[in-house]
Formats: sequence, structure tokens, C-alpha cells
Amino acid sequence: MSEFNPLGVEVEARQAAKDTFESPEFAALVHARQSIRLFTDEPIPEEIVRECLDLALLAPTSSNLQPWAFYWVRDPAKVEALRAMCLSQPAATTAQALIVCVARKRLWRQHARELFERFSESGPESVKKYYGTLIPIMMSPGPLNLFGALKRALFFTLGLFRPVPRGPSTASDLRVFAHQSIGFAAQNLMLAFRAKGYDTCPMGGIDPTRIKRLLKLGYGDEVSLVIGAGRRAEGGLYGPRLRFPRERFIHEV
Ligand SMILES: Cc1cc2nc3c(=O)[nH]c(=O)nc-3n(C[C@H](O)[C@H](O)[C@H](O)COP(=O)(O)O)c2cc1C
Repeated sequence: MSEFNPLGVEVEARQAAKDTFESPEFAALVHARQSIRLFTDEPIPEEIVRECLDLALLAPTSSNLQPWAFYWVRDPAKVEALRAMCLSQPAATTAQALIVCVARKRLWRQHARELFERFSESGPESVKKYYGTLIPIMMSPGPLNLFGALKRALFFTLGLFRPVPRGPSTASDLRVFAHQSIGFAAQNLMLAFRAKGYDTCPMGGIDPTRIKRLLKLGYGDEVSLVIGAGRRAEGGLYGPRLRFPRERFIHEV
């Protein structure tokens, strides 16, 4: 197993100060992140977990609507319950930090309103219109998704003649939007842990319904995945990196 030299805070600060887009360490970091399923019992300092979570929040979201939530589960009884809800996978039972990544689609409305207010004093008219009018019309599915269905039909018809923005406009589009966003943030989180010398395992093999109940999540919230983190233990890497040939996925057209 090749040793990875984690980026220190100092290096990060120096990079930020240089204000450059060149970052050769980035490729090393991406290579170094692998799913690790066994962790040592060394705790992760709280400030590191917080810093990594803050970096997760820097992930991009459509219209900057940030439809997500992270639950760093710390209460010992809840941690035990969560481990069982992660089907007692070793990545969960040995993790020193367990973070539940939640797709919270309902936040779009509140955030659109807040962004509208933020821009309403001095922002450009187009931005005010965007958050005040366009986003609410585009994203609201309406009762029983009826408005969403109407918009879909309208976009389908208009789309026969010209390119149209087709969503997110229905209830299911909103789910995709929220899960897509939390996915980007989860990747940020895992890379951040790796940069600090810790490893992670994303877990989708979980019982999201029970986790939702455990965390008393709200209506419409969906548990997207749980991330286990910790210091890599001997045998924590189950095998060599496996990827199918790039030609299968990358198309230059
Ligand atoms: C959405 C998602 C769900 C996953 N669920 C699990 C899981 O439940 N248990 C597990 O051990 N690994 C899980 N993984 C990790 C994958 O098995 C792993 O990413 C894949 O084999 C590629 O290996 P790498 O992450 O080391 O590159 C999951 C990964 C993703 C993205």
C-alpha cells in the first residue's frame, strides 16, 4: 500500500495564499481516497471533523440552494443504533465518526427566499427575478405534484420546438436535485478527511427508514448515505483499486 502524505493545514493555507488554480496535490488526493472498511480505535479530533464538514458545504448546488444536511452522530446510544442500521458493516462498527448525509429537498424554498432577500437591496434585477419569481415557479411541484405535471407537459410541448429548461420542476426532479447535491458534498467530505490523513467509507447498504426515524428527520427528508471515517487499520483496504476501461465512460464527441 503506497503511503500518502496528507496535506497539512500549512500547505493548504499556502496554496490559498498563492491564489492559484494549479494544485498537483489534488490528483494525489483523489488517488489516495479509497473506501476503507476497517478503522483503528484512534479518535478523530473534533475540530478535524468540523473542518471536513465545513469543506463539504463548499460543494456546488443548483442555483446555490444547498438542499442538504449532515448529522454527525455522537450520542453513544445513537451511534450504537446507527451502526446496527448500517447493517453492522465493519466500516460502521469500527468508524470513529459516522456522518449521515441527508437530502433535504424542502430547503429550496427557504433558501430561494433568503437569497432573494440577500439580493433584494443591492443585487442586480435579474438575480432578484431569478430567486423571487423564476425559481419558485420552476421548482414548486404544487399540491399532489399537479403543478409539476403541468410544467412537465408544457416543457415537453415547448421542447419540441426549442431547447427549454425542463427542471427541476416536479417532485421527483426535486429528489434528484437534492441527492445529486449531497453526493457532491459527500465527495468533498471524503476528500477532506483523506487530506487530513483519515479515511472513509461511503455506505449505501443501510436502512434509511430506520435512520430517518432515529434522527427524527422531517417530512420529505431522505437519508442518502452514511459516511464512516477513521484512521485506516491494517486490512482496511479490501483490494486493489478496480475501474473499468476509461473508453467505456469517457466520450469525446
Ligand atoms: C452510493 C455508494 C454506496 C456505497 N455503499 C457501500 C456500502 O454499503 N458498503 C461498503 O463497504 N462500501 C460501499 N460503497 C463503496 C464502494 O463499494 C466503493 O466506492 C467502490 O467499490 C469503489 O472503490 P473505492 O471507493 O475504493 O474507489 C458505496 C459507495 C457509494 C458511492
